[in-house]
Amino acid sequence: MELQVRHLSKTFGSGQHSKEVLRNISFALRSGEFLSLVGSSGSGKSTILRLIAGLEQPSSGQVLVDGEVVQGPGPDRGMVFQKYSLYPWLSAAENVAFGMRLQGLPQRDINERTAYFLEVVGLQDAARKLPRELSGGMQQRVAIARTLATNPKVLLLDEPFGALDLQIREAMQDFLLQLWQRTGLTVLLITHDVEEALVLAQRVHVLAPHPGRIVSTVEVDLDKSDLNQLRLSSAFLEKRRTLAGVLRQLEPALV
Ligand SMILES: Nc1ncnc2c1ncn2[C@@H]1O[C@H](COP(=O)(O)OP(=O)(O)OP(=O)(O)O)[C@@H](O)[C@H]1O
Ligand SMILES: [Mg+2]
Repeated sequence: MELQVRHLSKTFGSGQHSKEVLRNISFALRSGEFLSLVGSSGSGKSTILRLIAGLEQPSSGQVLVDGEVVQGPGPDRGMVFQKYSLYPWLSAAENVAFGMRLQGLPQRDINERTAYFLEVVGLQDAARKLPRELSGGMQQRVAIARTLATNPKVLLLDEPFGALDLQIREAMQDFLLQLWQRTGLTVLLITHDVEEALVLAQRVHVLAPHPGRIVSTVEVDLDKSDLNQLRLSSAFLEKRRTLAGVLRQLEPALV
């Protein structure tokens, strides 16, 4: 699998009221890679994901999956949103089954895969619980399981842990990293959190705002066998400081 984003630009509206949101965004993501885009609020992060997901059409440029131009939404790209997007009246298991049901999978496969993916995210004991009976972190794990169960080639994550408090967010980062290491998923993670990007991704692209464009790329070659140690290591703190500095320079108006 290869995802290619080529010279992608997006302007909303036209004439006097038009707004250039993205300018000439290019990057590639190969099978098994974990890539992150970081940028401040309004830098166009969600717009990039929506273009990749096919929920929005580019003004110019293209998104290609395995060489095929993306024309609209498809099961090869699985999205997880920032806000919990579970159906409140369905149990965890029924939520996981939902995407597969839309795909028309046979009931027996749905049951098998639901059990399997609930186990993958560590929620086999919560199968019958309703979303409101689950913590925020557990709800996001159900959302991730629901997306994984539809067998996407690439997982698109739009600030999936943004609504969680710090401790749970760090636990979810550990969970996602382990999941990636275990399963060889291909992941594109959007975040405004420099630390989150560095903890998780192999490569980080930095987005400048107004209009959104990639201004810097950091390769993250750090030892990720122990995340608690990583977060305190001098190599990590140094990278975090550098990256935070780059982002700060892009937002002089906020200081
Ligand atoms: N459908 C739309 N019509 C007009 N403007 C839009 C539309 N969607 C997004 N925008 C504008 O594009 C800009 C980027 O929005 P986007 O949601 O992609 O940013 P973001 O980086 O995801 O921000 P956040 O971190 O707050 O989620 C914003 O100024 C937003 O108002
Ligand atoms: Mg957003």
